[in-house]
Amino acid sequence: MRILAIETSCDETAVAIVEEGRKVNANIIASQVPLHRKTGGVVPEVAAREHVLKIIPVLEEALNKAEMSWKDIDAIAVVKGPGLVSALLTGTLTASTLSLIEEKPIIPVHHILAHIYANQLEIEEEFNFPAIILTVSGGHNDLVLMKKHCDFELLGSTRDDAAGEAFDKVAKLLGLNYPGGPEIEKVALNGDEYAFDFPKAKLSGPGYDYSFSGLKTAVLYEMQKNFGKDYNPSTLNSEFVANIAASFQRTVVETLIDKAIQAVSDINPCELHLAGGVSANKQLRLYAQEKISNSKIKIRYPENIKYCTDNAAMVGSAAYFFYKNNPNKYRKWRNIQPSSDFTF
Ligand code: KG4
Ligand code: ZN
Repeated sequence: MRILAIETSCDETAVAIVEEGRKVNANIIASQVPLHRKTGGVVPEVAAREHVLKIIPVLEEALNKAEMSWKDIDAIAVVKGPGLVSALLTGTLTASTLSLIEEKPIIPVHHILAHIYANQLEIEEEFNFPAIILTVSGGHNDLVLMKKHCDFELLGSTRDDAAGEAFDKVAKLLGLNYPGGPEIEKVALNGDEYAFDFPKAKLSGPGYDYSFSGLKTAVLYEMQKNFGKDYNPSTLNSEFVANIAASFQRTVVETLIDKAIQAVSDINPCELHLAGGVSANKQLRLYAQEKISNSKIKIRYPENIKYCTDNAAMVGSAAYFFYKNNPNKYRKWRNIQPSSDFTF
C-alpha cells in the first residue's frame, strides 16, 4: 500500500510517499527556517502564507522523485492537528480536494503520533510492546505509553513550555540563531556542562509531567545578573555562552530522561523510544543509552536526523498502521478540518 502524506502543521511544507509504512519513496521538505530566522521564531501568518506558495510544487516534486503518478497511490494522509490552524488548513484542504478528485481514501493523522512512527521508517524490525515514547519538539513534550499499534495512553506532558521551545528561547537569550536546539548543541561542545547549576522543576502530584519555564527564567536571570537587564546578546563572550549552553542542555537532558526512566522502572516496557525534533540531540541519546544500559530494554530513536524534525514520511507511516487497523473507517472521501487541540 502506497500512501501520499502531507504535513503543514508548523514551519515545514512536507509531502512524502511511503510504502507499507516503512519504505520511503519520496520525502520532500520545504523548510521555512531561513524565513523565520529573521524574526527569531515562527510568525503563524508568515508560515501560513508560505505553505500556500509551496504545497503544490512540493507535491509535484514528491511524485516526480518517486517516479509515480496518482494511479500508483492508494490513499492520502494528512496531519489534522495539533498545530497552527492557519498552517494546517493548507494541508487539510489540499488533501481533502485531492482525495475527492483522485477518489482515494483520506487518513487524518495526529502530529505527535506521526513523530512516534518515525521510528518505524526504513526499519524492518517491528516495535515490541509495550513501549514508552518520549516525544519532544518545539510544540509538544509528551511521555506516551504505546500498548500496541494505534493504542496510546498519555502518561505525562509539559505544564508550560516544551523542551524544544526552551532550547529556542534560551538560544535567543544567548544571541544564537533559530532553531535553537542544534545551535545550542553545537556551542555546548566547547562548554563546561557543570559551570552552572540550573534548577530542575519539582512538580507536585503523581504522574510524569514536565515543566521548563522555570529553567528558561533561571537562564534569563543569570544573563541579566552578569550583563545587566538590557544586555545585547550579539556582544557576548563565547566561552560564557558555551558554558551556559552546555549547563542548560545537561539540565534539559537529565530532566527529560530521568522522568522517562522513572516511567520505565514503574511500567517495565519492552522498549524506550525517543522522537520529535529534540531527539536529534546527541547528548539526549547518549544519556538515555547510558541510563538504560543495564537493562534488556531496547532503545530506539530515528537514526536519520531528518526523521526527528517535522516531515511527511512519518505521517505516511502512522497512516499505514492506522489504516491497517481499521480500513473501513477510511474508505470514503471526507472533508478533514484542521484542529489545534486534536487529542489521541
Ligand atoms: O519536531 P519539530 O521539527 O517541530 C515541532 O513539532 O515543534 O521540532 C523542532 C524543535 C525545535 O524547538 C528545535 O530547536 C528542536 O526541535 N531541535 C533540537 C535539536 N534539533 C531540533 N533540540 C535540541 N537538540 C537538537 N539537536
Ligand atoms: Zn513536530
